[in-house]
Amino acid sequence: MIPQEKIVEIRDRASVVELISDYVTLKKVGRNYIGLCPFHSEKTPSFTVNDEKGIFHCFSCKVGGSIFNFLMLFDHLSFPEAVEQVGKRYGISVERAGSARKSGEEDEREALYRLNERAAVNYHRVLFNETSGKKALEYIKNRGIDESMARRFILGFAPQYGSGFLDIVKSEKLSLKNALRLGLIGQRDGNRFYEKFFARLMFPIANAGGKVIGFGGRVVDQGLPKYLNSSDTPLFHKGSTLYGLFQAKEGIRKNDRVVLVEGYLDVIALHQYGVDYAVATLGTSLTVEHVRALARYSKNVIALFDGDEAGSKAAARSFEIFVDAGLLGQAAFLPKGEDPDTFVRGHGKRAVEELLARSVPLADYYFSGLEQRYGKSLEGKGRIAGEISRLLQKVRNVFEVDILVARAVDSLGIREEFLRQPLRDSAPRKSAVMSVRGVPPNNPANRDDAADRTLISLVLCFPEIARHIFKESEALQWVGSSWREVVDLIGAEWQEHGNIDVFRIAQKVDADKAAQIAGLAIEGESIAEAESEKMAIDCIAYLRRKYLREQERSLRIAIRTAEEQKDENAKRERMLEWQDIKERQLERRKLAPKTAR
Ligand code: UTP
Ligand code: MN
Repeated sequence: MIPQEKIVEIRDRASVVELISDYVTLKKVGRNYIGLCPFHSEKTPSFTVNDEKGIFHCFSCKVGGSIFNFLMLFDHLSFPEAVEQVGKRYGISVERAGSARKSGEEDEREALYRLNERAAVNYHRVLFNETSGKKALEYIKNRGIDESMARRFILGFAPQYGSGFLDIVKSEKLSLKNALRLGLIGQRDGNRFYEKFFARLMFPIANAGGKVIGFGGRVVDQGLPKYLNSSDTPLFHKGSTLYGLFQAKEGIRKNDRVVLVEGYLDVIALHQYGVDYAVATLGTSLTVEHVRALARYSKNVIALFDGDEAGSKAAARSFEIFVDAGLLGQAAFLPKGEDPDTFVRGHGKRAVEELLARSVPLADYYFSGLEQRYGKSLEGKGRIAGEISRLLQKVRNVFEVDILVARAVDSLGIREEFLRQPLRDSAPRKSAVMSVRGVPPNNPANRDDAADRTLISLVLCFPEIARHIFKESEALQWVGSSWREVVDLIGAEWQEHGNIDVFRIAQKVDADKAAQIAGLAIEGESIAEAESEKMAIDCIAYLRRKYLREQERSLRIAIRTAEEQKDENAKRERMLEWQDIKERQLERRKLAPKTAR
């Protein structure tokens, strides 16, 4: 647990705009900053940051919260890690309070990371400093890997007869049980422990934040299997991890693109030659999680495939995965017989960049893959059209739908109507086109709770209105049930502090709630103070009318039920209540502001 004062100190010092600018290009519009949301794919900015309140919100995909929420989402950090990172940036060191106060779970994860890190550093030491590492060091040199790269990727060596890791665990009183869980060691006949990785060149696998989560180990001869990887652990999920992401983060941002390859050594070779925006999957097939992880850093993901038929097939297959992750993706192809490692070593960075410049939309391979599968007969075309229109429903961005339809029409000769047909019948998709202010398109579902939302926005942005609402107004009971919890949270904040600090609230609640509250607070920013009071009065009047209308309706039903059951008493009581409601409906209530301006 990080002491509350520390968190407050850090957030007071931090500028959320400055921090998020490291990741997203922001432009000032009114009191807010806006940019393209890094959490989903969009062409019109709906990602909004408010420095004063220290919050961000995307009007389109609805993520939002404090800078810590941002880093937790973007870099997959835990809350304390996010606080630490921001603290570091502003020169505030975070000393976590005694471990007794840490949550058990956090403690546990930290211990696991520490073990992995310890193992990585030890393998690294063996590679460079021990005789047993000589052969592996030789191997690395022969493969043309510079020492600087071996250091940057913390390459290491696990010798045949142990790296000394077991002694480290013992002497540093690290947990054997955790080392077992991480797959660093194994256990044989009762109490005999042994190192799981031996006689292998070690590739530590880091998460986006640079923490070691697992390992890949390569034989340095012709042995099999060529690579052994850590099995999945609480820290490591092969199917969503990308090798080299931590080292590539900067390069990806600078170049605003990512190259996706398959091998550890491909990544290292590309980085060594200056293509420092390359990452690799870990010998598993590509998943939506992989692409999503990349999309957070750049929308321009180029997958590099082999130049043979297997390569084009892989390109065709991966398209749908990209679409599921909200991207369309590009494909580049190596000359036959080359892999990225040999290619960059043989031809240099420029040649790689030329390959990338010639990349083509993955969709093209997807389309020709369909044609190969279903043929060019009329029936085949029908099925292709079916497949494509099914896939188009997953594309959220309307521009992208248009682009894909055009390409399909061009390359397959299928009529546009056939591709779009099923779209018309399906439920309306969430529009990717949002206005900059984030006012959702006029649709009844949104209008329904507009008053609730506006009122909450006002409360979050104008203390006088908050004061009124929380002290004297009945308005709270009129807020619709879907917003009750949020209102209660804000109310509790008001009770406790006598003011409303959106940041503080966002930090106490779960990510969804934080995002909702941040969204409302940012919406409120666009309301002029001069308008605020009148808007509050209107909202309250509207909510009151709606509430009374609902009351009246349920009383009418109750009266009818009482009549049917011939329950005169009940009927009379309900009638009195009904009259009361009718009277209240006639009264014209006001917010009656007690505020002296
Ligand atoms: P490659 O066979 O292309 O290996 O497998 P590589 O990385 O290019 O290595 P070199 O150049 O032969 O030394 C690509 C990736 O597939 C996974 C690894 O992640 C590897 O980097 N793989 C491969 C395994 O997990 N296990 C294996 O036995 C082989
Ligand atoms: Mn290779």
